[in-house]
Amino acid sequence: MDYESKLERVAVLGAAGKMGSGILLLTAIEMADLSLLPENRGRTFAIQAIDMSFEGLAGLMNYLRAQVLRAAEKKMVWLRSVYADRADLVENGQILQQYVFDVLNIVRPTIRLEAAYDCHIIFEAIKEDPALKKEIYKKIDAANPHKPWYFTNTSSIPISELDTDANLGGRIIGFHFYNPPAVQKLVELISSGKTAPELESFALEYAAKLGKLVVRSNDKAGFIGNGHFMRDALYGISEAERLAANMPLHEAIYLVNKVTQDYLVRPMGIFQLIDYVGVDVVSYIMQVMNPHFPGEHLHSSRLDNYLKLGVRGGQNSDGSQKDGILKYEKGKPVAVYDDSSKQYILIDGFRESADKQLGPLPGSYQPWKQVVNSRTKEVIFAALFAEIKLMETLGAKLAINYAKRSKEIGLQLVSDGIARTDEDVNTVLLTGFFHALGPITNHV
Ligand SMILES: NC(=O)c1ccc[n+]([C@@H]2O[C@H](COP(=O)([O-])OP(=O)(O)OC[C@H]3O[C@@H](n4cnc5c(N)ncnc54)[C@H](O)[C@@H]3O)[C@@H](O)[C@H]2O)c1
Repeated sequence: MDYESKLERVAVLGAAGKMGSGILLLTAIEMADLSLLPENRGRTFAIQAIDMSFEGLAGLMNYLRAQVLRAAEKKMVWLRSVYADRADLVENGQILQQYVFDVLNIVRPTIRLEAAYDCHIIFEAIKEDPALKKEIYKKIDAANPHKPWYFTNTSSIPISELDTDANLGGRIIGFHFYNPPAVQKLVELISSGKTAPELESFALEYAAKLGKLVVRSNDKAGFIGNGHFMRDALYGISEAERLAANMPLHEAIYLVNKVTQDYLVRPMGIFQLIDYVGVDVVSYIMQVMNPHFPGEHLHSSRLDNYLKLGVRGGQNSDGSQKDGILKYEKGKPVAVYDDSSKQYILIDGFRESADKQLGPLPGSYQPWKQVVNSRTKEVIFAALFAEIKLMETLGAKLAINYAKRSKEIGLQLVSDGIARTDEDVNTVLLTGFFHALGPITNHV
């Protein structure tokens, strides 16, 4: 079956979720674009948007309408050519509306899993629960006569485990979009070892059509992205706990968050990143990964405790940040949660004294926004780290140790056979996490 035929019948599971909605948008556009080609006239493309939430599906359709319009505005020239034989479409506005109609017309929102029983391709983006994912694959596979291909968005579960336990015989691949799928360029592609070669070729073609940058990860729990992030987060938590021997924990968290953002020139500090992803999600991913790395302890009882206290982080449906380990105003951290008083403590109340303990920022420091797209990034970082290495301050010591640990984690991903090359680790952190510097560099 060729590329177009495979894409005639598609389902997205968890279509109303954070990842599912983006996957649905990108795939519906790809399918609609195929349907508009003269050679595909007469074919019916349909994408089943499956989610158990009615409200979520209503929100999804609004999201799609707005996003498809934005996408249409960017390809007006192409749209004019595909609608050239439509005498009724004259104004740009008419063409845009027709395209929105054509894309939405192939989307079938439903709460019924049965809608996947006639599909050739199933994108799965339900929650990160191995048992639930396997149960759903088995259900679909028992009722679907087409031997469908499964694209799972899991960010931690080994694909071979899903394949074996759901008895899919190589019809599953890890296609790990980053959040949000419509914006993030990176996709981690994970074959199970048994994944059918045709499925793999299709996945590469589809990724190329979506303009994604593919990094292959070997099939070990957490893959490259979470393999790095989870260990990096555990190190950040342990550093804050170590500092808390000499200062209140909330100040230590503030300091580690600041060092990881400013000294390491990342878009956000490590505690803000944990909040962004969600304390619950991070904790759950560690839970999935931990049994696969018996020599390590990929678990944090501090995160367990936050969850017990209702400190979760994550995003509101409008994309704004929910309070978590840090409290946010207009997206910026303004307070740190204190688990003994069960209250947030305002950063303004201790910032000055805490910053004094860290010492001054290096003179060559430049904020992430200024550095991230700079052509002279390498030179900037070389100068920054050379300076930090000569400094005796607490901030400098924390930064050097953190950068060394981050590099060690990256190297471990390569030596464990999870990433194929140092470059792949750097690419995932640079593109998936927007770091300005890949962790495996010679500066540290
Ligand atoms: N959020 C991220 O940053 C991120 C990044 C990369 C990968 N992932 C992975 O993507 C997957 C989805 O994550 P998410 O953050 O989008 O989750 P989410 O909670 O935002 O979305 C999950 C969606 O699945 C729906 N759902 C749950 N059970 C269902 C069922 N049985 N049938 C149909 N729909 C069901 C829910 O209603 C919800 O809309 C997970 O495997 C996660 O690990 C998430």
